[in-house]
Amino acid sequence: MRDINQFTITEAVKQSFKTEEGSRLKFLLESFIEHLHDYTREVNLTHEEWMGILMFLYDCGKISTPERHEFILLSDVLGFSALVDMINTRGGATEGSNLGPFYLDDAPRFALGGDLGKGRDGAVLLVQGQVRDSLGNPIAGAVIDTWQADSAGTYPIQEQASGQDKFDLRGVFTTDADGKYWYTTVLPKPYTVPYDGPVGRLLRAGNRHAWRASHLHYIVRAQGYRAITTELFFENTDYIDNDAVFGVRRSLITKLEPVKKTDTLPPTDVAPNARCTFDFVLAPEG
Ligand SMILES: [Fe+2]
Repeated sequence: MRDINQFTITEAVKQSFKTEEGSRLKFLLESFIEHLHDYTREVNLTHEEWMGILMFLYDCGKISTPERHEFILLSDVLGFSALVDMINTRGGATEGSNLGPFYLDDAPRFALGGDLGKGRDGAVLLVQGQVRDSLGNPIAGAVIDTWQADSAGTYPIQEQASGQDKFDLRGVFTTDADGKYWYTTVLPKPYTVPYDGPVGRLLRAGNRHAWRASHLHYIVRAQGYRAITTELFFENTDYIDNDAVFGVRRSLITKLEPVKKTDTLPPTDVAPNARCTFDFVLAPEG
């Protein structure tokens, strides 16, 4: 390796890893090395810039906690998360969108028509729809796991210090025999992604804002189908055209409508004053 130079080093680094021939790891690693080296040569990276990148990553690690994952945020604002969601969406299935940093396992289960809002401030929103397969058949017993911000744009998990329950504004529902689901909650408002850390510095350096369009998060699962992680957005709301993490897709935007006296609504524990409808489509497993 004595004759190594800026062009032969890429092959030398690839060869230094003795990964299994034909394995996915070998493929991922070698492609990453090639792109990293190509980038470095292409931009003629200086020592200062190289150290700047490494210190930026160091700062991302330093500010991260189990509740705050700065690398996920970095991935989000670079469109990396959205790109992974896009390329992993199956044809015919509901498009995927950001998981975000606030998902929790074991959210409380609710009966259909239950209310996540628990009397919080804000419009009471009825969310209803159906879970179907890609041929249009209803999927009974599908599990809809949802979580969201409140009407001030805050997740209760962020407010545990002021006594909020981290499981508030999240719940699990199971579709009925017709694949239908419905529940009430508060209408969430936009919020900023955390911008007091290194990713915030990056956004400011690029003259970018940190706002997310208001949304509801979902993971929808059903036996024999591939689970989807996605978000639901609302037409004509702020930041719908410039979401800070590139989560919005046309197919994930729903219309908010006021509830009228003449509307026929499913039975709910709390009377809604706004409603929206969204159907989830799952592709078969495999
Ligand atoms: Fe979110």
